[in-house]
Amino acid sequence: MCGVIGYTGNMEAAPILLEGLKKLEYRGYDSAGIAVLDKNVISISKVSGRIAHLCEKTDDGKLLHGCIGIGHTRWATHGAPTDTNAHPHMSNDGRFAVVHNGIIENYLMLRDELKAKGYHFESQTDTEVIVHLIDMYDTGDFRKAVMKAASRLQGSYALGVICADDPDKLIAVREYSPLLIGVGIGENYFASDVTAIVPYTRNVIYLDDGQLAEITKENIVVYDCTGKKVPKEINHISWDVQDAEKGGYAHFMLKEIMEQPGAVKAAMTPRMKDGEICWEESGLDSFDVHSVSRIVITACGSAYYAGSAGRYVFEQLCRIPVQVELASELRYSNPIIDGQTLLIVLSQSGETADTIAAMRECMKRGAKSLAIVNVVGSTIAKIADHTVYTWAGPEIAVATTKGYTTQLTVLYLLALWMGRKLGTLDEESYHMLYESIRALPKVIQDALDMNPMIKKLAGKYHDAKALFFIGRNTDYATALEGALKMKEISYLHSEAYAAGELKHGTIALIDDHQPVIALCCNSLLQEKTISNIVEVKARGAEVLAVTCKGNQNILSVADDVLYIPKVEPIFSTVAEIIPLQLLAYYVAEENGCDIDKPKNLAKSVTVE
Ligand code: G6P
Repeated sequence: MCGVIGYTGNMEAAPILLEGLKKLEYRGYDSAGIAVLDKNVISISKVSGRIAHLCEKTDDGKLLHGCIGIGHTRWATHGAPTDTNAHPHMSNDGRFAVVHNGIIENYLMLRDELKAKGYHFESQTDTEVIVHLIDMYDTGDFRKAVMKAASRLQGSYALGVICADDPDKLIAVREYSPLLIGVGIGENYFASDVTAIVPYTRNVIYLDDGQLAEITKENIVVYDCTGKKVPKEINHISWDVQDAEKGGYAHFMLKEIMEQPGAVKAAMTPRMKDGEICWEESGLDSFDVHSVSRIVITACGSAYYAGSAGRYVFEQLCRIPVQVELASELRYSNPIIDGQTLLIVLSQSGETADTIAAMRECMKRGAKSLAIVNVVGSTIAKIADHTVYTWAGPEIAVATTKGYTTQLTVLYLLALWMGRKLGTLDEESYHMLYESIRALPKVIQDALDMNPMIKKLAGKYHDAKALFFIGRNTDYATALEGALKMKEISYLHSEAYAAGELKHGTIALIDDHQPVIALCCNSLLQEKTISNIVEVKARGAEVLAVTCKGNQNILSVADDVLYIPKVEPIFSTVAEIIPLQLLAYYVAEENGCDIDKPKNLAKSVTVE
C-alpha cells in the first residue's frame, strides 16, 4: 500500500525520485521521503503529508545532491503517519537506508532480537527491523547482507536499499509486493509501478517473488533467493507518458471516466474477430469448458461488484451455478472447491493481498484459475492458470472506473464464449449478443454525453445526509458499485439495496426528501422496480431514476430521469454505472473532496 522508487545514473537523483513518487502517490499518501547518496554519505529528507510537502521541504529536490537514491510514499500500517515513521529508514551508523512496501509479520520478534544486540529504534514501523538486520549481517558484501536479512523476513516486501560504502549500487528485493526494474541507457530504476518510470524508459524487467536485483547505472543482475543468477526478459511497455498524465482534466478520475469508450473497446478488440471470440494470448482457447461444473468469482471492492454483475451473465448464458465471494471472506471460509471449479479472479491492480490469498487457497484445493487483471506482470497475472488482461491502460485515481467497466466487458465476453461452447446459447442468440457487446463503446459514449445534466443534479444531491441506491438483478449489482463510488470519493453515506428487499426493513429510513437513486435499466424487471419507486415516493422520497431510452412509464414516478441508450438487459451494468460515476464525481467536487486521493484509502491494497 506504499510506493517505492530507486534511481542510479548521471543525473541528480532527488528530482527524479520526487517526480516518480508523484506518480506513485495513489498507492499511499500520508507521508513520504527520499534518501540520496553522495560521496559515501546518505542524506535523507522525509515528511508527514503529501509529496507536495516533501517537494517544498527539499526545494523540488535541489537541496539533496547525489546521482543515486531511493524514495517512498506511505500508507501507514505500523505507526502513525509522522515524520519519524516515514521512510526511508536508516541504520544507526547511517550506512544503510531502506524503503519498503509491504508488511513484515515477524517484526516484533526481530525487533526484540535486534534491541538485545544494542540496535536503537527510532520509529514504530515494521520496516525499521530490515535496515538493522542488514547492518547486523553486513560483512562487507552489500548484496549478501541484504539477502541474509531478507531470508529472516516473513510477510510481504518490495525493498529498495542503498549503502554508503557501496555507492554505485541499488538493491531491490521482492516478496509478494510488486516491484519492477526500469532499464535505461546509462541509468536504471526500480519502482512499484511502471507509471513512475515511464517518462524515462519503457523497457522493464518484472521481478518474481524471492528475487533480488543488483542495479548499477550500467548493469542489472537478478538473483534468486539462493544467490544464483537468473536470466530475465526485458518487456516493452506500449503505452505513452500522456496515458499517465491528467491531459487537461481536473482529476485523473474524470479523465478515466471519459476514457471508458476507448478502454472498453481496447478490452474487446483483440478478442472479437469476425463474429468469433478468441483468447489466444491467455491460452483459454483450448480450455475445456465442459470440465466446469461450478464457477466461483472472487475479488475485493469494485472488482467484487463487477463479479456480482458477472454472476447474472454467466448464470443466464451458461446455466452454470456461480458463487461470488469477497476474497477476504473466502480465504478463511474453508471453501468447498474441487477440480471442476473454475475460479475467476478479478483485480485491476493484480496485487490485492486478500485476492491473492483467496486465489492461492482455492488453487491449492484444485480449482482452475482464470484471472482478469489490468496490470501486466502483476502477481495475480503470474500465478493464475490463465490470465486475461483488461487493457484499460494505467488507472491512477484511487476510485476505479475504467478498471471496473473493462472487467465487466471481459466477463461478458467470457460468458458469451462459454455459453456458445457449452451449447446453452443457440447461434442466433450468440450473434445477437455478440453485436450488443460490440455496440457498448458507443452506448458508453452516449451515456457520457449526459455529463452536463449530471453535474447539475449533483448540485441538488450533494448535501443529502444519505443516499439510497436501489435496483434488481443486474441493476442491483450496479447499485452496489454506484453506492461504493459515492462513499469512496464524496464521503456521503450511501447504501445499496435490492429494490424488492426495501420493504423488509430499510424502508423505515425513507422519509421526506430522502434521495433514492433507482436503477431501472434491466428491461425485464422495469415494472417491478417502478413498483418499488412508487413505494418510496409514497413515503416522501426524492427519486432520481436511471433507465433506458423508451421507458416512458418512469416519468410519472421519478423526480429526475437519466436515460442511457437501450442496451441488452444482462449487459446494462457497463452503461448504467456511467451516470453514477459522474454523479459521485460531481458530488465530491461540490463538497470540495480530494477526489483522486480519498481519505483513508489506497489504490492497491497489498495488506490483509
Ligand atoms: C481498493 C481500491 C478499490 C478497489 C479494490 C480492489 O480498495 O480502493 O477501488 O476496487 O482495492 O482492487 P483491485 O486492484 O484488486 O481491483
